[in-house]
Amino acid sequence: MELIKDTAQFEEIYHKSCHQPELFWDEIASGFTWKKRWDKVLSWNFTEPNIHWFVNGKMNITENCLDRHLPEKSDQIAFYWEPNSPDTSPRSFTYLSLYQEVNKVANSLKQYGIKKGDRICFYMPMVPELAIAILACARIGAVHSVVFAGFSAQSLADRIEDSQCKMVICSDYNDRGAKHIAVKQVVDDALQFPGCQCVENVLVYKNTGDEVTWYPERDLWWHDVVPNQSNECEAESMDSEDMLFILYTSGSTGKPKGVVHTCGGYMVYTSYSFKQVFQINEKDLYWCTADIGWITGHSYIVYGPLLVGATSLMFEGVPTYPDAGRFWEICDKYNVTHFYTAPTAIRALMAYGNSFVEKYQLKSLKVLGSVGEPINEEAWHWYNEKVGKNRCPIVDTWWQTETGGIMISTLAGITPSIPSYATKPLPGIQPVLLSADGIELEGNEVEGLLCIKFPWPSILRTTYGDHERCRQTYFSLYPGYYFTGDGAKRYKDGNYRIIGRVDDVINVSGHRLGTAEVENAINRHPHVVESAVVGFPHDIKGQGIYAYVIPVDFNIDETILKKEIAEVVAKQIGAIAKPDKIQLVSGLPKTRSGKIMRRILRKVAGGETEGFGDVSTLLNPEIVEEIKDGAV
Ligand code: WT7
Repeated sequence: MELIKDTAQFEEIYHKSCHQPELFWDEIASGFTWKKRWDKVLSWNFTEPNIHWFVNGKMNITENCLDRHLPEKSDQIAFYWEPNSPDTSPRSFTYLSLYQEVNKVANSLKQYGIKKGDRICFYMPMVPELAIAILACARIGAVHSVVFAGFSAQSLADRIEDSQCKMVICSDYNDRGAKHIAVKQVVDDALQFPGCQCVENVLVYKNTGDEVTWYPERDLWWHDVVPNQSNECEAESMDSEDMLFILYTSGSTGKPKGVVHTCGGYMVYTSYSFKQVFQINEKDLYWCTADIGWITGHSYIVYGPLLVGATSLMFEGVPTYPDAGRFWEICDKYNVTHFYTAPTAIRALMAYGNSFVEKYQLKSLKVLGSVGEPINEEAWHWYNEKVGKNRCPIVDTWWQTETGGIMISTLAGITPSIPSYATKPLPGIQPVLLSADGIELEGNEVEGLLCIKFPWPSILRTTYGDHERCRQTYFSLYPGYYFTGDGAKRYKDGNYRIIGRVDDVINVSGHRLGTAEVENAINRHPHVVESAVVGFPHDIKGQGIYAYVIPVDFNIDETILKKEIAEVVAKQIGAIAKPDKIQLVSGLPKTRSGKIMRRILRKVAGGETEGFGDVSTLLNPEIVEEIKDGAV
């Protein structure tokens, strides 16, 4: 796969990708190892939806991540691993050693009865064994469902139950910053739920060595099972459209849904987008600071870099441990060339002042990336000046769990970056802006709902176990389009600026949460009648969580109730979903049909005191004054 060289070539390739998409993707897919070539590049409709890429092609993504690079890259480092504590020894894996480790784990999974199509749930810290086991799973055709290890036992149980996982892979504990987290205990708690009977074995990687409760009929130590296995394991032949993984994500309604990605298209698109956006070359050292528990980690820590045969870095810890210079220290230590992080991390580090970042040279850096939420101009400029020393292009990459890979972004050093703009769609991506009534807005200087009108190889195929939910969520509101849930503006030269979600999804520090999900958790508190949750602008997190709560009665200790509500949310979902602000109210603004008028709640939460528009249609207009007066 050739790197795009300049703007003119980008325009030419983009044009081709829209006018001859099948030819365009056929050529790119031909650069991979297939066990059997496809009969047809694409067959699709957005009505059911039913999308097939590389129809009847047979392959295995791990052969493309590992075997394909041997023997030439046997001794090249596939990834370095930097531990949470600078006092622990770092580790590294060459392409050969990674290949062997993956095969050993793959054979272990087989030994315990895991077969093609079985689901395995992962609940692991950022240790190399997480990446290894994910690849092992893909090697034998099992489906991975990684759950971010900050989620609660309840959330973990919901996800295990929804996809009926046969095995859970976890660690004993996790050291994260100064925290010591009992990972296996959360798994043990989750498996107490009646819906989790499907789990036959728990494979436990000994990470810290602290004591754990052991269930001998169910639990397996990694070190007992893995080392004795053969380091060869044939890669299962997978159809392009066989499921590769499930990743749960929040939407505006109900419980999180399992977004399904399939083998062939996901492989082609993550690899293509990774290479073109970051302009990766031999000898580069790429570091993405995300957690593998999110899509960024799947596509651009595990699969993308290995598919292109790059060398990358995986980091176990947090940006502020032992101090706020850790990211920059690591960049200098490994001579990182490509650094990819989230705006929330940049803003958090900015708040510590410049002394930490100024202590380091950062000479090796060539490209900086941003992902997860809109990056505000102040953070963009700090990133550009203090980290990139005004000489590194910034790629602001817009995409989603559902898109599998980067959709709108600058190509580093090729197309121009503009502060706070994601800029242009990648080749193969055809975005449109729609008016609220579904009309395509033409030209530039327009704002609308961001939709995509043609499939790309890594578009989600379904939501696990509930195809109708997939259709309704993404393909029904504006028939013929994939609806992203984001609003965007298009400026001159066709550059896009993402405004943010237009639905009831909030983005807290780059983590996606549904307001309904948080409300359901709050409502479990026995002293709560009803609640409404909205996002509000937050200096570090991007958005914070503001909860309006109607208590059973006001004759209570407010501080205690608020604390308990936060605890209920942490228990139901995880600490990331704890409200930043809770306001006790006697009622919520409701329309005559009983719908909460969230527009008003968002304004109050955002600190606004006027411009509430006509509230006379409310059932209880008097409540607006009370809510304004009681804002926290
Ligand atoms: C939502 C998707 C993509 C991986 C991490 C998040 C927001 C993401 C950007 C960006 C503005 C962004 C959108 C999107 N978002 N990247 N560069 N600029 N907004 O994945 O959890 O599925 O969330 O994150 O609102 O819809 P996710």
